[in-house]
Amino acid sequence: MLTKLTRPYIFAHRGASAHAPENTLAAFELAFRQGAQAIEFDVKLTADRQVIIHHDRTLERTTNGSGPVAEHTLAELRALDAGGWFSEQSRGEKIPTLEEVFEALGGKIFMNVELTNYATPGDGLVDEVAQVVKRQRMEEGIMFSSFSAANLARARRLLPGVACGYLLDGGAPWRKRLEGSFIRMEAEHPWMEDATAAAVEKAHRRGRRMHVWTVNEAAEMRRLRSIGVDGIFTDDPPLGLDVFVNGHG
Ligand code: G3P
Ligand code: MG
Repeated sequence: MLTKLTRPYIFAHRGASAHAPENTLAAFELAFRQGAQAIEFDVKLTADRQVIIHHDRTLERTTNGSGPVAEHTLAELRALDAGGWFSEQSRGEKIPTLEEVFEALGGKIFMNVELTNYATPGDGLVDEVAQVVKRQRMEEGIMFSSFSAANLARARRLLPGVACGYLLDGGAPWRKRLEGSFIRMEAEHPWMEDATAAAVEKAHRRGRRMHVWTVNEAAEMRRLRSIGVDGIFTDDPPLGLDVFVNGHG
């Protein structure tokens, strides 16, 4: 449950992605060892409808593969190297499945599962994710987020007990989009420049938490702490814990 997280807290964004290759087990396990209260990662479907963890629509930036993730089977994706782009030492890291992350870290650290089928809406991602969550009995240990309101509405229907956070792009229309949305949400996930004292107050008045992305600078962490933001997504858990959570520096 989201409410079990004691405020303020950090989500290690794509794991401890400043220190290990993003969205790999190595990055998630490192975030846990560093003391992050939660991790965030991005889920997508393979061509054979397995749920895996990967940020980009395509493979080039963070693996030695190429082309869209959605056009590869799980076996093909598992054969790729997802660590060598980051460092020599990380070579051999694999693209993880959702199941594998739940098995490795379920019950140890809270997880924000971002539903990221933005390029392939209507692929049934949320339904497949819900199956994995139920099978692994992870309802209490996760929340969902997405820039897609349709994804959150579907998640709400399939798993009504799992908290949802609506991700909002930066810029002026964000508050309008939020106000115009009919989804029930437990958290608002604005871009950092949209997180003002007034916005935090409004979210809290509505009984929602505010989680802000993606915050890697100490000065911004201090500002967000001072206006009462509940959580931040950061690539750098030790810095986030020191400055945002513990108020040092
Ligand atoms: O959940 C915060 C952040 O992860 C949203 O953007 O592109 O890093 O998934 P992105
Ligand atoms: Mg994300």
